[in-house]
Amino acid sequence: MTLSEDLDRARDEALAGFAAATDTAAVEAVRVAMLGRSGKLKDLQKAFGAATPEEKRSLGPLFNQAKNAIEDAWKAAQARLAGSESEAPIDLTIPGPDRRPGSIHPLSQVAAEVEAVFVSMGYAITDGPHIESDEFNFSRLNIPADHPARDHQDTFWVEAPGSQWQGPRLLRTHTSAVQSRTYQITAPPFRRVVVGKVFRYEAVDATHDNTFTQVEGFAIDRDLTVAHLVGTLRTMLAAVLRRDDVDVRLRPSYFPFVEPGFEVDVRLTGADPSSRFARWVELLGCGMVHPRVLEMGGIDPGQWQGFAFGLGLERLAMIRHGIQDIRVFNGADLRSLRQFGA
Ligand code: FA5
Repeated sequence: MTLSEDLDRARDEALAGFAAATDTAAVEAVRVAMLGRSGKLKDLQKAFGAATPEEKRSLGPLFNQAKNAIEDAWKAAQARLAGSESEAPIDLTIPGPDRRPGSIHPLSQVAAEVEAVFVSMGYAITDGPHIESDEFNFSRLNIPADHPARDHQDTFWVEAPGSQWQGPRLLRTHTSAVQSRTYQITAPPFRRVVVGKVFRYEAVDATHDNTFTQVEGFAIDRDLTVAHLVGTLRTMLAAVLRRDDVDVRLRPSYFPFVEPGFEVDVRLTGADPSSRFARWVELLGCGMVHPRVLEMGGIDPGQWQGFAFGLGLERLAMIRHGIQDIRVFNGADLRSLRQFGA
């Protein structure tokens, strides 16, 4: 084959390649194969160097024509694709590359379920401030200053020099503070439930945090008894835990604002023996509201009585979801939290 035939063939091949290319990568591949440093045209140029001066005179213009034709076809292919690519239809239904729907935090989920059960039993939802007075957090709950019961709840005291606040302030150590507030402003009968953050200066471990959530429930009426209290707790546990192997135990205990007082422990008889929930886990404190507390709230204990309880929501959520360590809740590790997402 002569050099001029080789040139014709290379030009035809390049033009066909550019015409058939459907994207910029294909155009670039043809350009490299033809016009690149090791491309076909370079090979032909080398062969052209070995031609006689006479041949060069006739082949020179042919070579330039072929090269120009290939370069024109390259530019045309680029222009064609630039136009068609920018006009390509956009498919709005294709999901984005990192589409991550959020999920409801496991504590918020369980809180909503607890509130729903209590609302179905006629309770109204209420709350109080996180920064509380000594009076509502302790004194009006029958825990006077210097009472040893204060030692049970290591307290974050808040200093606010120059503020309009009267008396010492603290981060509430329990939601029972909302009891004393409610007694002061609400006439019985009533039933209330509170889900809120509480704060204690505590060493953190697998079942204790320094910022955790309590559910406080209290009902004041004419003839409520411990049986109503136990029935209410069992109804709530059945609705939230949704399993039939929940064993519940009441132990006599001491809280100055109830008499008698109890602690309630829970265990799951069907749980794996290595799980912490196969053993008794303390879930809440409760009892019949102390007459002194009602009196301090302006409620006549001769006519009204009731029960109250304060439950650790993290512990309930741990039992519900089989979470072995309380630090998951405030740990902000999304890989853990997403597992329980709703
Ligand atoms: C109280 O806080 C009482 N106010 C409860 C109460 C209310 C008793 C009404 C009687 C009537 P206690 O300190 O035991 O009690 O806490 C109640 C529950 O909160 C515990 O049973 C536990 O489930 C949870 N809890 C207590 N400390 C922590 C902590 N550091 N981390 C996580 N949960 C805790």
